[in-house]
Amino acid sequence: MTLPRLAVVGCANRDVTIRVKDLPRTGETLLGEDLQESMGGKGANQAAAAARLGMATTFFGMVGRDSAGERVVRNLTAHGVDVRCVREGNGPTGTALITVDSHGENTIVVAPGVNDELDCRAQSFDVFDVVLGQLEVSARTMLDVARRSRCFLLNAAPPTKVHRDLLDASEVVIVNETELLGLTLSEISRCVVTLGARGAEYYEFGERRDVARPPVVQPVDTVGAGDVFCAAFATQFAHGRDMSEILKYAVTAGALATLAVGAQGALPLDSEVREWLARAS
Ligand code: RIB
Repeated sequence: MTLPRLAVVGCANRDVTIRVKDLPRTGETLLGEDLQESMGGKGANQAAAAARLGMATTFFGMVGRDSAGERVVRNLTAHGVDVRCVREGNGPTGTALITVDSHGENTIVVAPGVNDELDCRAQSFDVFDVVLGQLEVSARTMLDVARRSRCFLLNAAPPTKVHRDLLDASEVVIVNETELLGLTLSEISRCVVTLGARGAEYYEFGERRDVARPPVVQPVDTVGAGDVFCAAFATQFAHGRDMSEILKYAVTAGALATLAVGAQGALPLDSEVREWLARAS
């Protein structure tokens, strides 16, 4: 039996985070804690999380010819991600400016840098059972990838208008409640809506078919929890599990990802997710 292979296509960033008591309001200046730098980007987070969950994972993304780019590649390699399809561009590596409040909630602003240059036309996706993409890189690139994938999962994040063709080329669309506002649920064949601490729901053409609730945890930092959910979902989808099992696994992995600081600070192992699932049953 050959093991499934996953490709993750998307953004890689350097995350610069300041922790604050409350998130800033418009026009407000706040004093926070010291700056923390870590590795992020929805694509890179999802690739690292999937590899950590034991899936053979290849990342397709862009970095700059700078020290942040070197760190992105080194970090993905350390997580076991195949980085041979990561390319260097002429601009800087993407940077995300993040604030995290005392409840673990966040705001994120991204300067995309070379992420916008991602172009996969010369690359083949035939060997991958599942390809997972997001919308932090060009939508045209993502549509091209989706059309050439055997099975494409779209995490339609960050919130944006998503082209009908891309929705149609996606086997499952994964969004949070904010991202859902730009979509019409009844027009999407298969959609998963993540609800933060309330778990996730699965819809077919707008009809709710399944729901999963996560374990109760005390979140430290929710940045990247959605990425871990998507990665976990993709790994179980690639293994051909049924939707109810996939959802339970993914909400558990997403909850565990909130237990440390940084988008990749608490990436769970497959064994840890299964331990929590066993405890809950
Ligand atoms: O989903 C979290 C990620 O969004 C952060 O790591 C940041 O880089 C932005 O891409």
